[in-house]
Amino acid sequence: MCRLSVNVDHVATLREARKAQQPDPVHAAVLAELGGADGITVHVRGDQRHISIRDLRILKDTVRTRLTLEMAPTAEMVALAVATAPFMVTLVPENPGEVSTEGGLDLVAVGRDIAPIAAPLFDEGIPVCAFIDPTIEQVQAAAQLNLHAVELCTTKYASSTDGETAGAQIEILSAAAALGVRKGLAVHAGHGLDYENVIAVSAIHEIGELSIGHSIVARAVLVGMQKAVCDMRDRIVLGSRGVRHPRG
Ligand code: PXP
Repeated sequence: MCRLSVNVDHVATLREARKAQQPDPVHAAVLAELGGADGITVHVRGDQRHISIRDLRILKDTVRTRLTLEMAPTAEMVALAVATAPFMVTLVPENPGEVSTEGGLDLVAVGRDIAPIAAPLFDEGIPVCAFIDPTIEQVQAAAQLNLHAVELCTTKYASSTDGETAGAQIEILSAAAALGVRKGLAVHAGHGLDYENVIAVSAIHEIGELSIGHSIVARAVLVGMQKAVCDMRDRIVLGSRGVRHPRG
């Protein structure tokens, strides 16, 4: 069975929508681990628009499973990763203004540039993964760079609108995953996975880890709504009875 790494970026996005203290992605990470997450993933963007460097530091001290840091392959981010020492770094392309990561890193085109930038990670013994499109060429390029892992981008699969296209994308993911394992890479996958489309991806035995964020945070908001309103009603009842503090 493949591991589940829960991406808590969207919890920070909600916090930043109000520039408030809550909800805290660190609290979300603890609860995700209690729920059975095998790992926690965060993407520290160059502009820190959701997860901040402070969040990352606290998560490093709090996460008891595997903390994966997603980041752009820049010298600045590599220095942050070396200072933080997460369980793994996943290199992702970052485009200004994008809503979410738009596709894999093109290792065929930029692999040679990435090798020297990522060198301090290798020197520090931090495993390096690259988020790539699920093609044979990209997997081969990752193997040539001696990366530890690849994360196959599942966006095309997840956005398939019919069974035939989805089935074809599963074949593509399966072939890329099988090649990755043959080349000695750990194979992860993610982006756009939800409670329905995750099932076919989970059946690809070569995939060792799934990285899922949006669908889990979206469901958490809804399944937690009833209790959140109930708790607020309770506080209002307390206040109307003259209680000054929720704990009496
Ligand atoms: N993998 C990568 C490289 C990502 O950038 C993201 C989104 O932050 C995910 C996985 C998770 O995608 P989603 O939020 O759609 O589950």
